[in-house]
Amino acid sequence: MTEAYSSQQNGVVSENQAENIRIKGKAVVDFAEKLLTLKRERIHRALTQILGLPFAFLAIFVLLSMLIARLFFINILKPLTLIRQTIRKVSEGDFCPIPYHETGEDEISKLIYAFNRMEGELKSKQEQLVQSRKIAAIGTFTAGIAHELNNPINNIYLTAETFLDDRELSNPEGRELVSDILAQAERAGEIIKNLLDFSRSELPSFTDLNIREVIEKTLKLVKNQTMLTGIRTDIAISSDLPNIQGNFRNLEQIFLNLFLNAIHAMPDGGAITINASHSSEDYLKIDVRDTGTGISSEHLEHIFEPFYTTKSVGRGTGLGLAVTYSLVKKHGGYIEVQSELNAGTTFSIYLPIGHVSENAHETADCRY
Ligand SMILES: Nc1ncnc2c1ncn2[C@@H]1O[C@H](COP(=O)(O)OP(=O)(O)O)[C@@H](O)[C@H]1O
Ligand SMILES: [Mg+2]
Repeated sequence: MTEAYSSQQNGVVSENQAENIRIKGKAVVDFAEKLLTLKRERIHRALTQILGLPFAFLAIFVLLSMLIARLFFINILKPLTLIRQTIRKVSEGDFCPIPYHETGEDEISKLIYAFNRMEGELKSKQEQLVQSRKIAAIGTFTAGIAHELNNPINNIYLTAETFLDDRELSNPEGRELVSDILAQAERAGEIIKNLLDFSRSELPSFTDLNIREVIEKTLKLVKNQTMLTGIRTDIAISSDLPNIQGNFRNLEQIFLNLFLNAIHAMPDGGAITINASHSSEDYLKIDVRDTGTGISSEHLEHIFEPFYTTKSVGRGTGLGLAVTYSLVKKHGGYIEVQSELNAGTTFSIYLPIGHVSENAHETADCRY
């Protein structure tokens, strides 16, 4: 009885246990299924990510390529196109710099900077060549005429002088007329002297010269005129300047022409300031500054041309600066000019220190 009960009791326990086991088993199966779904989802997500990665990389690659291409175009192709276009213009004779405003340290910027410098040099050399040819052509032409005119004008001058000295010429009107002839012959003689100075092609003889002496002696020649017009003259010359190799008469002519122009530009008075200093190891720089009318940009580019004058007939021949230019050139130097309307003008003469080379006349130029 007890056994039956117990076996019956045993049967109940096993049923419960079985139920329990089933429930737990189901939970385990559910859990396993959930885990499987989760894993599958993760694997799916991971697969999707792995498969999408190449597309993302591709998109980034395309974007980067476009960016690099754009940078390449802006930094290399565009400047190269500008360089090509400018080279074509330069070869056609239009000397314009490359319009590129970046001043970086990269190779393209350095190339453009170097090109623009070379182009500036070419332009100045071209202008110099044109000017030299013009001067050479006019020089040959004028030298012939000047030689031919020199003798008759000398004769006119001497005859007029003899006439004026003649005691029998007491009529004041007659004396005035002869004086006029004398003045005009003197002026014509001066023009001829300038023309001959300007057209002489051989190099003058050079000696050791002190620039202070040359300037002071030349200033004495215009002392009367500066005093009459109320013009002050100031000289500032460094005491340690070395002597230069030059021709005294030529240098006197150079400064005389500059002083006379300065005086003409200050009819109501003003100041002429002369500074001389070392411009570099190789050159002396002499500035002749006035406080006169100044030169407009329209005239400035022509002032070194022979016969270019803004002065009335009888007052200017347009030869002063052309002669100055040609003499400075013979000394292996160059001229710079800066001017401001109604404020004044500065001419800067650069003269080499030491030996002047044989082909000095081919190396000088003028700069504005
Ligand atoms: N210091 C100056 N101030 C103003 N204008 C000047 C000066 N120097 C030269 N010029 C201008 O340059 C022109 C040419 O000068 P130049 O060759 O000496 O000839 P000229 O004196 O006979 O006119 C002058 O007519 C004048 O217009
Ligand atoms: Mg003059």
